[in-house]
Amino acid sequence: MKLENRVAVVTGAGRGIGKAIATRLALEGARVAVVDTESAYAEHLADKLIKSHHDALAVKADVSVWTDVERLFAEVETRFHTVHILVNNAGIRKDIPLHKMTDKDWDAVIRVQTQACFNCCRAAQKYMVAQKYGRIINISSPVPASLGERKQTAYAAANAAIDGFTRALALELGPSNVTVNAVAPDYIDTELLRNIVKEEGMYIDDYRRFATAQIPLRRMGTPEDVAGVVQFLASDDAAFVTGQVIQVKGGP
Ligand SMILES: NC(=O)c1ccc[n+]([C@@H]2O[C@H](COP(=O)([O-])OP(=O)(O)OC[C@H]3O[C@@H](n4cnc5c(N)ncnc54)[C@H](O)[C@@H]3O)[C@@H](O)[C@H]2O)c1
Repeated sequence: MKLENRVAVVTGAGRGIGKAIATRLALEGARVAVVDTESAYAEHLADKLIKSHHDALAVKADVSVWTDVERLFAEVETRFHTVHILVNNAGIRKDIPLHKMTDKDWDAVIRVQTQACFNCCRAAQKYMVAQKYGRIINISSPVPASLGERKQTAYAAANAAIDGFTRALALELGPSNVTVNAVAPDYIDTELLRNIVKEEGMYIDDYRRFATAQIPLRRMGTPEDVAGVVQFLASDDAAFVTGQVIQVKGGP
């Protein structure tokens, strides 16, 4: 097992990509804090991991709110004493054209994607710098961040910010042996994607056929496809990789 005796905090871990990441890190031996705004999701996964002899802690927290993040890290410190791995996965997406986007919509996307990333990195870095070891992995989104996407001004701005934040923090924390990377997935078949497809008035099976035709590997991605890359970056196999944005989207 590659992550034995490591403590990991995974945000938005109640379902989808975050759930697969938390599960993969636990299978590799990490003790995992399963963080989500939906306590039922977080508790369900933590119970499942504990029943299969892994160490896990469910924490209900809105990671876009600093006071929640302070409490989250206090709970993790009490239970696990430190933090080695932080995965900033929590995110929301709202596809709204600019002329219809309210301040509230804009703020919600920016806060959950970027403020949350800042909050958790600021809280986690103090443990990582002190122990001269840490792995931070931020989940962003490749297409909106680099090419833009219709109706995604907020989501694109937020994800481009995550990529820039990742590179800057990698420079800052490198001397403390803390790596900071981003994983940018696309076409991952999760609730988030299925909800957007529904809102657009498309049937999911039609969308899957359309998407599969665009993807060179000719299939949709799974949360486990993303979890494997995160696990690599969290492990000592990736000790000399930092400041990178790795795309997981079945094509270049
Ligand atoms: N699914 C895709 O194809 C895709 C593509 C690009 C990027 N992403 C990114 O991957 C990440 C995970 O996406 P997903 O598809 O698994 O989404 P999802 O909606 O299925 O799961 C997200 C989880 O995060 C939780 N969450 C939301 N806001 C939170 C907050 N403020 N604090 C704590 N938890 C919160 C939700 O309750 C949910 O359990 C997101 O950052 C998303 O932007 C996904």
